[in-house]
Amino acid sequence: MDKRKLGNLTVSEIGMGCMGFSHGYGEIPSEDYSIEAIRAALDYGCTFLDTSEAYGPYLSETGHNEKIVGKAIRGRREDVVLATKLFIGTGEAKNIYDAFCRHLEASLNRLGTDYVDLYYLHRINPAVPVERVAEGMGKLIADGLIRGWGLSMVTTDFIDRAHRVTPVSAVQNIYSMMERDYEKKVIPYCREHNIGFVSFSPIASGYLSGKVTAETKFQGDDVRKWVPQLSKKNIAANQPFIELVSDMAKRKNATNAQISLAWMLHKYPHVVPIPGSKNKERILENLGASSVKLTDGEFAELETALAGLTVYGHRKDVNMGSEYMD
Ligand SMILES: NC(=O)c1ccc[n+]([C@@H]2O[C@H](COP(=O)([O-])OP(=O)(O)OC[C@H]3O[C@@H](n4cnc5c(N)ncnc54)[C@H](OP(=O)(O)O)[C@@H]3O)[C@@H](O)[C@H]2O)c1
Repeated sequence: MDKRKLGNLTVSEIGMGCMGFSHGYGEIPSEDYSIEAIRAALDYGCTFLDTSEAYGPYLSETGHNEKIVGKAIRGRREDVVLATKLFIGTGEAKNIYDAFCRHLEASLNRLGTDYVDLYYLHRINPAVPVERVAEGMGKLIADGLIRGWGLSMVTTDFIDRAHRVTPVSAVQNIYSMMERDYEKKVIPYCREHNIGFVSFSPIASGYLSGKVTAETKFQGDDVRKWVPQLSKKNIAANQPFIELVSDMAKRKNATNAQISLAWMLHKYPHVVPIPGSKNKERILENLGASSVKLTDGEFAELETALAGLTVYGHRKDVNMGSEYMD
C-alpha cells in the first residue's frame, strides 16, 4: 500500500481503527477473532493501528482494546506505527508530567511494547493547558518513550499553541464526505505546518457504505444511536449521498465505502483515514480503497455534487468535548 507522512512518521495511506473490537458498536467479537482480523490487516499492508486507553466495553474496562492490539502485534512490532491516546483528568492537572508517565506506562504494559509511535491527547481538558501537554509530550519524545504526538478533536488555535512548544505529528478529527467543517481551517493549517490529518469516522460511522438503513437496529453501547445523521428521519433525508457514492462505485467497480475513502485520499496528500470495522472482510475491503484511484475528472464530479448536497443532522452539533471520549 502507498505510504503517507504524518509529520515525522510514515504510515500506510489507510490505517485501521481498532475501537470496534472493544467499544462503541454493540456486541464485540471474540478476542481471537479480533486478533486475527488485525493481523489480516497487517498482512494486507496496513501499518497504522489506532487505539486508546479508553476503548473498553461501555468504557468500563480501561485498556481492553490496547490489550487486544498488543497481542495482535506481538512479533511484528517493528512493522507497525502504533497510535494510542490518553486523557488527563482535572484531578491530575497539578502534576501533568507524572500523569503522562502513569498513563503511558499502563498503556505500554497493555500493548506489550516499550514505545508508542503516536501518542494523542484524546480530548482537550480546559483545566490542563495545551502548552503543558506539549511540554510533557516533548519530554516523552526526548526519553524515547514516544516517537511523535498528536491532538484529537481540536481547532487551529489549540494546534498552533501546541505546535509552537513541541512539533505535532498528527491531528485526529472527525472527517468524511458528511463532516467537512475541518476543510476550512484545520486541514489547510496542518498541511502548511507539515502535520498529518488523521480522519476518524471516515465512512460517516458506516452510513456512506449504504449498509445502514432505517431498519438497522443499534444495540448496547452502539454510538450510532445518537449520531444525528443516522436518526431514522435523517437516514432517509441523507440518501442523496448514498446515491452519489453508489453511482461512482458502480463506475469504478468498487464499493461505496471504498469511494468515500478514495475521495479523501485524492483530495489531500496529508490525510490518512482510519476506518473501523469489527468484520475482517470489511476491514480488507476498506484497505482495498488504496487501489481505487479516482481520476481528476471523477474527483471533480464528486466535489461538485457534494457542494450541492445538504447534510441532515450534524455530528458536530452533538457534544464531542472532553467529557465525551468517543
Ligand atoms: N479520536 C476520536 O475521538 C475518535 C472517535 C471515534 C473513532 N475514532 C477512531 O476512528 C476509528 C473509525 O471511526 P468510526 O468507527 O467512528 O467510524 P467509521 O470507520 O466511519 O465507521 C465504522 C462503522 O462503519 C461500519 N463499516 C466499516 N466499514 C464498512 C464497510 N466496508 N461496509 C459497511 N459497513 C462498514 C462498521 O460496522 P462493522 O463493524 O459491523 O463492519 C462500523 O459500524 C475508530 O475505530 C477509532 O479508532 C477516534
